[in-house]
Amino acid sequence: MSKGLFITFEGGDGSGKSTQIEKLKDYLEGKGFHVVLTREPGGTKISEDIREIILDSRNTEMSDMTETLLYAAARAQLVEQVIRPAVERGDMVICDRFVDSSMAYQAYGRGLGDIVWDINKNAVGDYMPDLTILLRLDPEAGMGRISGRKQDRIELSSSDFHRRVYEGYLALEKRFPDRIKGIDASRGIEEISEEIINIVQDLI
Ligand code: ADP
Ligand code: TYD
Repeated sequence: MSKGLFITFEGGDGSGKSTQIEKLKDYLEGKGFHVVLTREPGGTKISEDIREIILDSRNTEMSDMTETLLYAAARAQLVEQVIRPAVERGDMVICDRFVDSSMAYQAYGRGLGDIVWDINKNAVGDYMPDLTILLRLDPEAGMGRISGRKQDRIELSSSDFHRRVYEGYLALEKRFPDRIKGIDASRGIEEISEEIINIVQDLI
C-alpha cells in the first residue's frame, strides 16, 4: 500500500486556514481519498489537555520557554499517535498548524530564535510535512476578521508581536521554498481554494 500525504496549513490568526482546510478536504474526498483532519495544539486527548494550559488567558505568568516546550510536547504526541500512523495507512492528513507555527510565534514572535527549531526537530523526530500552505495575510486584516470572536492568550498579544509572526512566516517561506508555498490570502475564498487545489494536484 502506498503512503499518504501530510499537508499543513500555516498563517496568522484569521488568515483563513480553517475555511481553506474544509475546502481542500471536500476536494480530496471527492477524489476518493480518506482524509484525516487535525489541529495544533491538540488532536489527541493529551495534546488537547496541553492546549487548555497554553491558551488559558489566565496563565499570564507563562514563560516563553515553557510555552515553546508545551507546544512541542503536544506536537510530539500528535505525530506519534495520529499523523504518522495515518500517513503510513495511506491517508491524506491535513493539519491546522505545525512546526512552522512554533517558528513564527515562538522563534520570531517571542524572539527565542533557532533554539525553537532544535527543540521541534527533536520533538517530531525530523518528521516534516510533504507540503505546507502558508496563507499570507497582513496581521491587521487577520485580526480584523476575527475581532468578533473570543480571543485566546496568544491572540491577545500585541500588534508588534503579530507583525513579527507575519515577518517570521515570510522568512520561513524563503528558507524552505520546496516545502512551503505562500499564497495571497487577501483574495476571495474561491480564488484561494483553486490555487491550493492546483498545488496539491501536482503532488497526487
Ligand atoms: P483561521 O482558521 O486562520 O483563524 P478562519 O478560516 O476561521 O481563519 O477565518 C477567519 C474569518 O475570516 C472567518 O469568519 C471566515 O469566514 C473569514 N474568511 C475566511 N477566508 C476569507 C477570505 N478569503 N475573505 C474574507 N473573509 C474570509
Ligand atoms: P489556533 O487554535 O490554530 O488558532 P486560530 O484558529 O485562531 O488560528 O492556534 C492557537 C494559537 O496558538 C494561535 O494564536 C497560534 C498559536 N500557536 C503558537 O504560538 N505556536 C504553535 O506552535 C502553535 C501550533 C500555535
